[in-house]
Amino acid sequence: MNPFVELENVTHVYAGAEDGAPAVEGLSLSVRESEFAAIVGPSGCGKSTLMKLATGLQFPREGTVKVAGQRVDAPVKLAGMAFQNPTMLPWRTTLDNLLLPLEIVEPHRSQIRRRRAEYMAKAEALLAQVGLKGQGQKYPWQLSGGMQQRASLCRALIHEPKLLMLDEPFGALDAFTREELWCVIRDLHAAQKFTVILVTHDLREAAFLADRIFCMSSRPGRIIAERTVDLPRPRDLEVTYTPAFVDIVHELRARIAEARAAA
Ligand SMILES: Nc1ncnc2c1ncn2[C@@H]1O[C@H](COP(=O)(O)OP(=O)(O)OP(=O)(O)O)[C@@H](O)[C@H]1O
Ligand SMILES: [Mg+2]
Repeated sequence: MNPFVELENVTHVYAGAEDGAPAVEGLSLSVRESEFAAIVGPSGCGKSTLMKLATGLQFPREGTVKVAGQRVDAPVKLAGMAFQNPTMLPWRTTLDNLLLPLEIVEPHRSQIRRRRAEYMAKAEALLAQVGLKGQGQKYPWQLSGGMQQRASLCRALIHEPKLLMLDEPFGALDAFTREELWCVIRDLHAAQKFTVILVTHDLREAAFLADRIFCMSSRPGRIIAERTVDLPRPRDLEVTYTPAFVDIVHELRARIAEARAAA
């Protein structure tokens, strides 16, 4: 399959970096269309920086970033994003929070008045898909953390992005809720075939969800190892107790330990 997200020999220095040292250096990565990629690596190694570069929120000093064959020179509209802390607007209902991207991204922006009922139905269908049927009229602060995170996933998906960027989306949740959400993401990806880049500290999460896992070095980050996860799909949580799965997690843990030790 074609590469969908490509970073080639990318070096990035933040304008505000006191020491002028790069956050990532010589970073190359290629994620195929419909692939589920996971990024793991030590804290501060440049994972979120990679996400910002791939979505056009930052631009590299050196190297090239391409999404869908196009060089990234502005925020990437075909991407949907969800982060560690759901950033729902407290004065809007959950449903109105979901509609937010449609009020910003064309062609929806100019159609939202006319097609509001249709968009609302779509948002309600998405909420049902993640187990939040009928919760749309509630305000985010009336929902639990896990429910807010589900809603924020829906918001990332409402404009049917071809690329879903998840930066530690489940970090703040308890283990059971997190595993439930793994299954939600797994099913959405199986049904909609978008490309995913997931940043996570949780190696089990990476191994359960991803087709391929990339390990980054300490700052300045670059890819130091790549692991294909060949566990058959659909995967259910039972797979996480199999020797093949545990081997993958062990191997990743060793890679990260190496990367930390090299810092
Ligand atoms: N806006 C910024 N200005 C200056 N330096 C920054 C900025 N954002 C990040 N950095 C620095 O760049 C490096 C990489 O940061 P980044 O947020 O990409 O790391 P990360 O791998 O996502 O870390 P974590 O796992 O803790 O989320 C860090 O040393 C950080 O301090
Ligand atoms: Mg980060």
